[in-house]
Amino acid sequence: MKKQQPKQDAIETSRRDLLRFASLTSLGVGLSQAGGQARPTAEPPAATMAGVKFEPKDKVRLGFVGVGGRGSSLLTNFCAVENVEVVALCDIVREKCTRGQAAVAKGQTRPVEIYAGSDHAFEGLANRGDIDLAIVATSWDFHVPISTFCMKQGKHVGVEVPAARTLADCWDLVDTSEKTRRHCVQLENCCYGYNEMLINRMVHAGVFGELLHGGAAYLHDLRSLLFSGQGEGLWRRWEHLDRNGNLYPTHGLGPVAFYMDIHRGDRFEYMVSMSSMSTSLAFYRDTHLPAGDPRRGETYACGDQNTSLIKTSRGRMIRLEHNVTSPSPYDRINLIAGTKGIFKDYPPRIYIDGRGNEDWSPIDSYKQEFEPPIWAKMGEIAAKLGGHGGMDFIECYRLVQSMREGTAPDIDVYDAAAWSAPGPLSEMSISKGSAPVPFPDFTRGRWNQARA
Ligand SMILES: NC(=O)c1ccc[n+]([C@@H]2O[C@H](COP(=O)([O-])OP(=O)(O)OC[C@H]3O[C@@H](n4cnc5c(N)ncnc54)[C@H](O)[C@@H]3O)[C@@H](O)[C@H]2O)c1
Repeated sequence: MKKQQPKQDAIETSRRDLLRFASLTSLGVGLSQAGGQARPTAEPPAATMAGVKFEPKDKVRLGFVGVGGRGSSLLTNFCAVENVEVVALCDIVREKCTRGQAAVAKGQTRPVEIYAGSDHAFEGLANRGDIDLAIVATSWDFHVPISTFCMKQGKHVGVEVPAARTLADCWDLVDTSEKTRRHCVQLENCCYGYNEMLINRMVHAGVFGELLHGGAAYLHDLRSLLFSGQGEGLWRRWEHLDRNGNLYPTHGLGPVAFYMDIHRGDRFEYMVSMSSMSTSLAFYRDTHLPAGDPRRGETYACGDQNTSLIKTSRGRMIRLEHNVTSPSPYDRINLIAGTKGIFKDYPPRIYIDGRGNEDWSPIDSYKQEFEPPIWAKMGEIAAKLGGHGGMDFIECYRLVQSMREGTAPDIDVYDAAAWSAPGPLSEMSISKGSAPVPFPDFTRGRWNQARA
């Protein structure tokens, strides 16, 4: 498969979207009246996938496309969930599949099929009739072509983050999911962290009052990984060559979207974005790579620190940050604030109006009342497996549970599209001097409906 050209795609989509936005505003149509952008095609949309339940089944049969670092970790976590069968593994690199095959063989009698050797090999996996859910954990450029192909072959899809990196690709996921009636679930594990699930319960019990603003980030020093020459070091640095914006928005944004009931009563309406200059990655490279290394000739477009502000239709705001190239301790911010109080993570602390002294408190005193039931039940095994503090297992367990019981997934294709959209939207805003850019309404007007 030929590699996509995301930059051109993004520019074309950006132009269309900005022109539409400019004409709406010049006609005096306010952002809230505009209600976001319609799908830029004339085709009538199929029925919504919001709230659509999985067909219940006893056992969930899985196929994995991409068994590098993340795919292997997901494989371990899914294999630890009961009533799961791994049917097939696919990776361009055959050895990664055989390693995964050996790991599965320990707990499963039926042999696992391998599809390998080319970037088209996933088609063989997708064409099988005995897979319910395809897990896509490849580099970002293959997320959308593989996910859409798998949905067209009748598979539900769980795709790694970010699901898409252009608006056209976000729409492609939405259109395909609706037409094929297959779910496209974004595998946003951070929504299943202990603190995130605890705070989500507290938010929905009214502890923070009416929500006002949130904070979300991916601040993770990846400099050494980006030059490592293995795993993500083979492809992730490329994204910094010609994109300037928030390249990885979903880890911070997903949990805040859950707190704010995005697509279940509110939606992201527009955003502005600003990047600092790009210098840390080149500085690191020049001080760590030997003279003559070809990577010393690279120029990075992506600013080190990116900060965006998102306004929601209900009038809330979210500060969204991205920085993977300058020295900093790991931080997703994970902030939520309302009329009654505020929570901030890293480290976790809370302040509730009228409760205790006028300072931050630890969250421990809330754990007994608001502990997420799934963590009470599964926390021990999740902690033993260890993926990101146990959130990875909880994520896999929830998805399998939802497919077995026949409920709607926690995260659907509209969430996947809207949480990924700050990638291209930040690029658009920055290219226009930090101008406001509207979020498409991927739900086609259904964002205001509460869900069971
Ligand atoms: N949710 C999380 O916490 C988390 C953590 C790490 C990575 N990720 C995401 O997971 C994805 C994979 O990241 P990674 O760290 O595993 O990278 P990686 O480079 O270690 O693994 C990617 C794998 O995909 C394979 N691949 C690429 N194109 C393919 C194709 N067409 N067909 C079959 N296989 C293909 C590669 O050979 C490689 O083995 C990325 O989207 C990344 O953002 C998420």
